[in-house]
Amino acid sequence: MSKQWQIAHKHDGYYKRAKAEGYRSRAAFKLKQINNKFKIFRPGDIVLDLGAAPGGWSQAALEMVGTSGLVIGIDLEHINPLENAIFLEGDITDNGVVDLINEHTKGSEIQVVISDAAPNISGNYGLDQARSVYLAETALDLAKKVLKPNGNFVVKVFEGVDFKEFLDHVKISFKTYKRFSPQASRTRSSEIYVIGLGFIKMFKYTL
Ligand SMILES: C[S@@+](CC[C@H](N)C(=O)[O-])C[C@H]1O[C@@H](n2cnc3c(N)ncnc32)[C@H](O)[C@@H]1O
Repeated sequence: MSKQWQIAHKHDGYYKRAKAEGYRSRAAFKLKQINNKFKIFRPGDIVLDLGAAPGGWSQAALEMVGTSGLVIGIDLEHINPLENAIFLEGDITDNGVVDLINEHTKGSEIQVVISDAAPNISGNYGLDQARSVYLAETALDLAKKVLKPNGNFVVKVFEGVDFKEFLDHVKISFKTYKRFSPQASRTRSSEIYVIGLGFIKMFKYTL
């Protein structure tokens, strides 16, 4: 058995498992592996899922927060409904997105923000990577606006230019930060997940 075959087989394995277990994406297993390691979710949590289509992460998050929890998912694309989830069509880089989220939380606090948002792959790695960092920074800015103190954050980002700066931005807003590559990520992928645990809320004071 060649190494290449083994790699392809393993990843087909996640694809097949996703189909067999009713997940909308193989990415659902990445979130489960992240949660197994870092205990991101608790029953009853409200979760904001950025770049949520087709809904695999939302399905996995719903399992972890249970029926007393809620997932609010946003994507440029339409997402088919799920019980205990609210799906919104929108662009996370739009200024109005926080108001859109607040309309649906109705004052309840968000405990977890997750973002698997990724640009359309152009084939130009430098461009794709820069877009990925921009989406990750956008997700972090949103998390800082909506997360309750001590909340958690998970975000995908492609490694490369400005990755270190992005990590530094996560580091100053969370008690702990980690980088993690789940087994379900493709072996040759440059994606990495950055995890922020224990959000430190900074209050703005005006004179
Ligand atoms: C890898 S997919 C997410 C898969 C999802 N986590 C799942 O498990 O089903 C990345 C998503 O990011 C979305 N996306 C990219 N840029 C976005 C933006 N500016 N606003 C909202 N969604 C965006 C894409 O439309 C795409 O659906």
